[in-house]
Amino acid sequence: MKLKKIIAVVFGAVAINAALFSMGYSADKSGGVFPNDFGPTSIDVSQYPPKMKMYYHLFLNKCSACHTIARPINSQFLELTAAEQAAEKKTDPEIFKNPKVWQIGQKIWSRYVHKMMSKPGANIRPSEGKRIFEFLVYDSKVRKTGKNTEAWEANREKLLKSFKQNYPKDYARIFGASSSAKKTASKGASSTPASASAQHS
Ligand code: HEC
Repeated sequence: MKLKKIIAVVFGAVAINAALFSMGYSADKSGGVFPNDFGPTSIDVSQYPPKMKMYYHLFLNKCSACHTIARPINSQFLELTAAEQAAEKKTDPEIFKNPKVWQIGQKIWSRYVHKMMSKPGANIRPSEGKRIFEFLVYDSKVRKTGKNTEAWEANREKLLKSFKQNYPKDYARIFGASSSAKKTASKGASSTPASASAQHS
């Protein structure tokens, strides 16, 4: 009887993992949830140059191995050169005011694609990583700035709002907390050595 129960539990766990996996989530590889994960899972590339349309498919294929493709699609990352940033400061100054909606850096996608490629099991060749990186830089500029600035802001704010309500701990994990919550976090950290030493005595 006991053995039957154990088998049932193991079988259940396998089934749950399989279900998560088929949803595009893998409990161990995804690194937790992100607000991005709950947004759109495709990009309208119909107006993109042919090269970018090709790279889009590579991106879909490679960047959905560990987490949903929604994670990079709805990411706040925006890579702009120094010159591009100077230009945007004149035409689109609002994009510099909220890093949760537009996190801007000169190498932000470059760094992130390298980070993803170096994860175990990533299976992305350098030549593929370069193409995906080019796609992300191009696509972010199209979808997050210029005439799409407001639409992007609305998408991102909506994701942030519901994520903060539904996953407050993950929200704090990703964005750090507001000043009051930060205090609690550092309190928690300083109490850890004390409780650890209490265990020893
Ligand atoms: C081998 C597994 C794996 C692959 C493949 C992968 N990722 Fe990730 N990704 C992760 C994990 C794990 C996290 C959680 C944060 C971390 O560990 O860096 C993450 C987080 C992210 C985030 C959220 C970062 C943030 O701080 O907001 C973005 C964006 C992202 N990945 C983009 C990509 C892109 C683009 C690709 C394809 C080049 C990709 N990922 C491929 C594992 C992977």
